[in-house]
Amino acid sequence: MAVWAATDTGEASYNCFVNESHLQYLASPEWAHTLETDLLPWVESAGPLGDHVLEIGPGPGLTTDLLRHRVSRVTAVEIDLSLGRALQTRLADTNVEVVVGDATKVGLPADHFSAAACFSVLHHMASADEQDRLFVELHRVLRPGAIFVGQESLDLDMIRAGHADDTFTAVDPEELSVRLAAVGFGPLATDILGYHFRFVTRKAG
Ligand SMILES: C[S@@+](CC[C@H](N)C(=O)[O-])C[C@H]1O[C@@H](n2cnc3c(N)ncnc32)[C@H](O)[C@@H]1O
Repeated sequence: MAVWAATDTGEASYNCFVNESHLQYLASPEWAHTLETDLLPWVESAGPLGDHVLEIGPGPGLTTDLLRHRVSRVTAVEIDLSLGRALQTRLADTNVEVVVGDATKVGLPADHFSAAACFSVLHHMASADEQDRLFVELHRVLRPGAIFVGQESLDLDMIRAGHADDTFTAVDPEELSVRLAAVGFGPLATDILGYHFRFVTRKAG
């Protein structure tokens, strides 16, 4: 996958790297099935998503499919130009708007979204600083009381091996709680499940 992407404003931006086999898996029926049977029940138990969800890093869009059938609107922000354009085409004339750009600085309206979702994205960002910039931006664009849900890989040898030639900036679940609080989010609930963890927090209401 390309290392550089251009945003809708024409600005060139550094892209994360997702290796080809990883991308193929993220577009596969197996992944769609895992999302339906494993991730979806957890998302539904995390709290109300409301009417307009902001999804960060949809990739091929199977997580977007999961969300779009359950809420009125989804705005999905994808930094990778080819993935973003392909998703715009596939989901044209649906309740999804796909924005091609860097979610840390795409300039969406403040206090706008009823929930934010970020599945397997944070570790594909170039640095912890970049992840923190995303948290600041998500806090800005969420409505008061809105939830922020996510899934992240744990820093395990097996996971690092799967990210060969790929970006892997691990997120520590305990540190995540402190980092989210530092930008204004409330308490973080985490579920650690083998090779990954899920989290939910909320912008103060
Ligand atoms: C591993 S994929 C996850 C795809 C999908 N969420 C899933 O779980 O099937 C991570 C995606 O996040 C995107 N991404 C990484 N950093 C981003 C950023 N700053 N803004 C928007 N998208 C980003 C990548 O381009 C990639 O498509």
